[in-house]
Amino acid sequence: MLGARCLLRAVRFCSSVPCPRHKPSAKLSVRDTLGAQNMSGERVTVQTFPIRYKERHPLEYLRQYPHLRCRTNILGSILRIRSEATAAIHSFFKDSGFVHIHTPIITSNDCEGAGELFQLHAAGKIKVPEENFFNVPAYLTVSGQLHLEVMSGAFTQVFTFGPTFRAENSQSRRHLAEFYMIEAEISFVDSLQDLMQVMEKLFKATTMMVLSNCPEDVKLCYKFIAPGQKDRLEHMLKNNFLIISYTEAVEILKRASQNFTFTPEWGIDLQTEHEKYLVKHCGNIPVFVINYPLALKPFYMRDNEDGPQHTVAAVDLLVPGVGELFGGGLREERYHFLEERLARSRLTEVYQWYLDLRRFGSVPHGGFGMGFERYLQCILGVDNIKDVIPFPRFPHSCLL
Ligand code: 4AD
Ligand code: MG
Repeated sequence: MLGARCLLRAVRFCSSVPCPRHKPSAKLSVRDTLGAQNMSGERVTVQTFPIRYKERHPLEYLRQYPHLRCRTNILGSILRIRSEATAAIHSFFKDSGFVHIHTPIITSNDCEGAGELFQLHAAGKIKVPEENFFNVPAYLTVSGQLHLEVMSGAFTQVFTFGPTFRAENSQSRRHLAEFYMIEAEISFVDSLQDLMQVMEKLFKATTMMVLSNCPEDVKLCYKFIAPGQKDRLEHMLKNNFLIISYTEAVEILKRASQNFTFTPEWGIDLQTEHEKYLVKHCGNIPVFVINYPLALKPFYMRDNEDGPQHTVAAVDLLVPGVGELFGGGLREERYHFLEERLARSRLTEVYQWYLDLRRFGSVPHGGFGMGFERYLQCILGVDNIKDVIPFPRFPHSCLL
């Protein structure tokens, strides 16, 4: 065992470009370990280790070895950047006066109402009959938003940063069954403009901090996996993000010479192909799309009371290479509007406590969620979301 460990460490040391703050302590050379043996006396050679010294394996190949790939230089860099970005996000919110809330992972609500829930059942020899463990059906959270809204009534500005779960049957390069989400909720916000300002600041401040704390790791990523990404990111950082309405977005798509698989039409959800086109159309600068059709968004979005095309005060941020990075909006803080929306969706009973938040004193408020892995993809130019999380979970795969 010891021999194998030495060999792996040596391979990593020889090919690794560490962040200056994280200097490796052991200095082993490959030569030292070539003669290494494991505990059963078996000789461990470079040939038996699936990652070859000095060979640049594609990220797809490394994905087969979630237990070993972190020892390569490229995954080492990505995961150190992930760690720095986590710290940067926490410090952004701390410096901006937000209170950090641990929202629950086990919940009894489907915040997004999309039915993409993983339901929980007690396994094994638990005495309580499994369906009665919580007395109500329980799920892994799809979003901490509703719990954050509870807290924003007490602390004004709150955020959470934790794992989120979606049973979406998607094998796409931007979907995971378990991903991390940064969510913020802010009281006394009555315009999307105020929310978008926080979203843009969060993106830019975090990215600047990552670039200044991890220059070597970022450089390595750009060199090996995303040439040209440095300029693309600088372009995003130095320009003000753009704003268009959903209605304008559909008009742009309708005028496009490109043939889309999904024909753009007012009332349909924007697909990845549409998001890509819009970002390109906007000169590869992140673009906020605001005021979506009411029918496309969850019950909590604030009614714009417009017509005949009825919209809500929702906002998504689309970014180059990834598409949707943030989703958010103003919340329906008016009791009667919310009551009616819930009644129409037959959710009144389940969301009595949510109505209480309006009944017992409510203020205009809003918030957003940013997918952390999509953020890392966007700044590093990593094509597949499975390469920016240590242990990716997606349909038909839960290795380790
Ligand atoms: O747009 P979403 O579904 O918004 C919400 O959940 C809101 N309740 C957030 C809020 O307002 N507090 O998800 C937010 C973001 C998306 O824009 C996307 O970046 C990411 O979460 N996301 C995913 N990332 C990876 N894999 C998935 N399956 C994802 N689903 C959403
Ligand atoms: Mg969304």
